[in-house]
Amino acid sequence: MTFNEQLNEKVEYVTSAIYEFAPVAEDYLKDITEAMNYSFKAGGKRLRPLIMFETFKMFGGKSKDIHSFMAAIEMIHTYSLIHDDLPAMDNDDYRRGKLTNHKMFGENIAILAGDALLNYAFELMSDAVVNGDDVLNNARAMKVIANKAGIFGMIGGQTIDVKTEGTPIDEKTLMTIHNLKTAALIEASMMAGAIIAGASEEEIVKVEKIAQNIGLAFQIQDDILDVTSSSEVLGKPVLSDEKNNKTTYITLKGLEESKKAVKAYSDEGMSLIKELNKDSEFLEELFGYLIYREK
Ligand code: IPE
Ligand code: IPE
Ligand code: MG
Ligand code: MG
Ligand code: MG
Repeated sequence: MTFNEQLNEKVEYVTSAIYEFAPVAEDYLKDITEAMNYSFKAGGKRLRPLIMFETFKMFGGKSKDIHSFMAAIEMIHTYSLIHDDLPAMDNDDYRRGKLTNHKMFGENIAILAGDALLNYAFELMSDAVVNGDDVLNNARAMKVIANKAGIFGMIGGQTIDVKTEGTPIDEKTLMTIHNLKTAALIEASMMAGAIIAGASEEEIVKVEKIAQNIGLAFQIQDDILDVTSSSEVLGKPVLSDEKNNKTTYITLKGLEESKKAVKAYSDEGMSLIKELNKDSEFLEELFGYLIYREK
């Protein structure tokens, strides 16, 4: 099987596993679940649950509880996108090839759908803690996800991102934004996979470092695609960063240096993962693929 065939198969598996957890409701609650599922089921690369699952397998994980955490991280990611697209944030009209949540349902419902996805993620994870196989490891995984999604992670990064719009920032600040707004959820994904599989403290620290490098590469590539790709390919608008006067790696260093940085961070992630001495072949190939991804 080629890498691409393998990837498609795995993404299909991950997608159907997380869809099992899509919220269902009746009557007047249908409005909120419809808006939640509109974005949750819109497609997307499913990178975060995929790397969580692959890391879990790399460490020999067996518990089916991992599925709840895969769904939870994708819900948190999806909520972050719904809010990121709001008029008060990046003000974008398309996401995952469809109208953004607020364009479809209005701002009030989009805000609530985002809140609801975030909360639902914690409903799923806390249920896995209480009813799952390993109370302590499931609780540890939830703690990492909670931390990386919050003010010391994604929300913190989004805050600096919006507060520095239109003001020149240096490379250090930009990398702090990337670390927090994007790398943090990628770290949470891989770390939760490792924790639920029973990896050691030392291994979890290494996994965090690997994911950090991949996350930085991922956001720089996202910023590159914002200027080099098309909305048809991306399924979201291009030139969104310019519209919002964002400093990006490209505005600071130019396109060629940015491409080099993506490769350098990915290479670092790949060499660190080898140090784990596990079967990391698929993850390494995935990291290599992400450098040249077109969407
Ligand atoms: C978009 O994430 C937001 C960033 C952190 C760059 P993805 O590129 O993973 O978006 P989907 O999930 O595939 O839509
Ligand atoms: C957002 O970065 C990262 C999030 C935490 C949502 P961007 O604003 O560049 O993400 P896109 O390009 O809209 O997907
Ligand atoms: Mg943004
Ligand atoms: Mg955006
Ligand atoms: Mg972007």
